[in-house]
Amino acid sequence: MFVSDLSLDDFRSYERLVLSLEPGPTAFVGANGQGKTNLVEAIGYLASLSSHRAGADTALVRRAAPGMEQPAGSVLRAKAVHGQRPSVLEIEIIAGKANRARLNRGSCRPRDLLGVLRAVIFAPEDLALVRGEPGLRRRLLDDLVVTLRPSLAGVRAEHDKILAQRASLLKSARAARSSTASMLATLEVWDAQLAAAAARLIAARIEVITRLRPWVEAAYHAVADGRGQARMAYRSSLLITEGAAEPDPRDEGAWLAGEADLGEAATTAARLEAAMAGLHSREIDRGANLVGAHRDDLDLFIGDLPARGYASHGEQWSLALALRLGSYEMLRHDVEAYGGDGEPVLILDDVFASLDERRRQALVTMVAGAQQVLLTAAVDEDIPGELTGARFRVEDGEVSRV
Ligand SMILES: Nc1ncnc2c1ncn2[C@@H]1O[C@H](COP(=O)(O)OP(=O)(O)O)[C@@H](O)[C@H]1O
Ligand SMILES: [Mg+2]
Repeated sequence: MFVSDLSLDDFRSYERLVLSLEPGPTAFVGANGQGKTNLVEAIGYLASLSSHRAGADTALVRRAAPGMEQPAGSVLRAKAVHGQRPSVLEIEIIAGKANRARLNRGSCRPRDLLGVLRAVIFAPEDLALVRGEPGLRRRLLDDLVVTLRPSLAGVRAEHDKILAQRASLLKSARAARSSTASMLATLEVWDAQLAAAAARLIAARIEVITRLRPWVEAAYHAVADGRGQARMAYRSSLLITEGAAEPDPRDEGAWLAGEADLGEAATTAARLEAAMAGLHSREIDRGANLVGAHRDDLDLFIGDLPARGYASHGEQWSLALALRLGSYEMLRHDVEAYGGDGEPVLILDDVFASLDERRRQALVTMVAGAQQVLLTAAVDEDIPGELTGARFRVEDGEVSRV
């Protein structure tokens, strides 16, 4: 698919931007701070309802200059061309309030937009996928879950709600210092609900990992020029609570079997409930949920060693890139979507300057045939010749075709 039109009102540094785009490669070139990332961030937001940069949604609404009227919110609109008929997505981000959304001009829930516009963004921040907190890797998986199966956006939202409610119950139990019988009875009700939602989310993540794994391994092989093998494993707080060993790259069979079991949502729910029952007193002590989808992680290895803490800077970069390229390839080969047009828009934000020549070549080779690639760079020289296409100059919030 590709984005043919984009319009932004009061988003980041843009007061108003209207842009027509084409399939193939398109580059946005401009000095730092001119609004290149803001532009592609908007497309990413329409695709995932979150920004690829850290920060609260309120930072997305344009801050007016002192003395000027402050806009109450932003409006992002895009036309995604896929399959038989394009989709028009619109989201209104209102500072301090819930977002409003429209799809093909009719009101809808924001989450109904998920999966409609597919985009994969690779940006320098993605190094944190390898080095950073587990939450970033869970988000990678959960965003892919929702992209592949938009109906699971509801399960994800439900899971997060139940998790927060159970956490607040555990906190009040801790504050009360002694847990009453009625408190424990309430807790058991929440156990069952959390276990059911978490099990569905975990099963969906396992499906994503299983599909993603060969693409990431192949992308890493290409990017790292055949040096070292990338591996990933689902790190399950349930399995570890049950006494299983941590994922070990030298014992791939064991963790793959563990993953396969977790893919059975009904049994996983029962196992989670049992694990929670055994953890109640510790959970009350800590005032926190101690087992479930929210405590899981995606373990990454290069060869037999964890990528975090062992891999070189270059290897970590290659792995971050491979995770995104692998996601892109997986979605591109997802023939069930939009009559076979599930290929996402690929966004490469300011990445060519940070890659050495070898990785740059590998990336170019992999993306040269993409249906739509949007690239940003500070200078023209950073745009690889193979990706020459439409070019826009970005300066002072103005975007002009050159
Ligand atoms: N909410 C906002 N309102 C106004 N300006 C913003 C907002 N958020 C970011 N900016 C400005 O956008 C600029 C950064 O744009 P960005 O797209 O990241 O630049 P680059 O071209 O380097 O990618 C900064 O000057 C920043 O002050
Ligand atoms: Mg930028």
